[in-house]
Amino acid sequence: MPPITSIADLRALARRKVPRAFFDYADAGSYNEETLRANRDDLMKVKLRQRVLVDMSKRDLATTIVGKPVPLPLGLGPVALSGMMHRDGEILACRAAVKAGLPYTLSTMSICSIEDVAEAVGQPFWFQLYVMKDRGFVRSLIERAKAAKCSALVLTVDLQVLGQRHVDVKNGLSVPPVIRPHTLLEMIGKPFWSLSMLGSKRKTFGNLAGHVKGMEGVRSLAHWTATQFDQALSWKDVEWVKSVWGGPLIIKGILDVEDAKLAAKSGAAAIVVSNHGGRQLDGAPSSISVLPKIADALGSEVELLFDGGIRTGSDIVRALASGARACLIGRAYAYGLGAGGEAGVAKAIEILGKELDVTMALAGLESVRKIGRAALAD
Ligand code: FNR
Ligand code: LAC
Repeated sequence: MPPITSIADLRALARRKVPRAFFDYADAGSYNEETLRANRDDLMKVKLRQRVLVDMSKRDLATTIVGKPVPLPLGLGPVALSGMMHRDGEILACRAAVKAGLPYTLSTMSICSIEDVAEAVGQPFWFQLYVMKDRGFVRSLIERAKAAKCSALVLTVDLQVLGQRHVDVKNGLSVPPVIRPHTLLEMIGKPFWSLSMLGSKRKTFGNLAGHVKGMEGVRSLAHWTATQFDQALSWKDVEWVKSVWGGPLIIKGILDVEDAKLAAKSGAAAIVVSNHGGRQLDGAPSSISVLPKIADALGSEVELLFDGGIRTGSDIVRALASGARACLIGRAYAYGLGAGGEAGVAKAIEILGKELDVTMALAGLESVRKIGRAALAD
């Protein structure tokens, strides 16, 4: 097999190894996938200046994210059902991130629970929160994240209603996986995945099972979100979450200048400019197209993180040049997980780090902390 040299290679390998329903779940966007495509298309339209004969012998890729030093301007965003891309996926992704010195975000809708990851990894990670109607349960999730020594809470605000991904409906996506006659062949075609999953005790939503009544019957994300998520969520609730949590709060899912200003006013430590990887409002602008406007509108009191379509190191430079402090990745590491578990995630991080380094050299950029609009070609 030829060596893996890009995130695209990891995607191709994950596609071969992971049963279709779970690969498609990770890969897809909502509805017509217009916003999903725009995330990539618009990043590629952002052109970088090629600068030459600048002393590039010392390059500095380090920065801080929410006050913590990181060797790269990168973090792993929340990816629901990571434990279906690979057995114990959340633990493995968190381990790879910790070894690389980067933050990892555990989704509310993970397979491994907060406690599983904390116990297995033994290092702080971020916890991503979805707000359900049952505030007692939300409070208990926050308390569990505190007890597990999570270092930041990422409150996702763009998914109180789930944007439909047509493939999930067609594939009959279910958690835990159900083997139906028409999926049996599929499972036989993915022997490593199937055998390792058979032996795993973690096959359902780890943060919910055993903690919420009626959870036993929950098979689908669509059903859970439709019945449990609070559609009345508002800025008042952000205040409540912030007060229960008491630590650094990151608001994820901001795509509009007005909302960015409100988020800054809410006292968040950081916001993530994001359209949920093109999985929610189809027809929303790409993340990269709104980033400069949001950066201009905000003061320096709130850190600006970015996600949506990051697949190369040059994408990271594009986002930093457009105003982000650091980027989060979703699919880039989910593909790594499907392709090769912890080693696959480590590979994704290594690929992006090396590409970032070379891109900086070729663009005459010495330090990630100094990357700004001047790096963009007009
Ligand atoms: C996500 N995303 C996400 N976001 C979140 O806040 N909570 C979650 O549980 C999930 N789950 C999830 C599952 C999968 C399979 C994907 C691909 C994405 C969104 C994610 O954190 C991030 O915003 C996007 O993935 C960024 O886009 P890219 O990097 O995937 O293009
Ligand atoms: C998703 C969720 C659960 O994007 O965040 O599928």
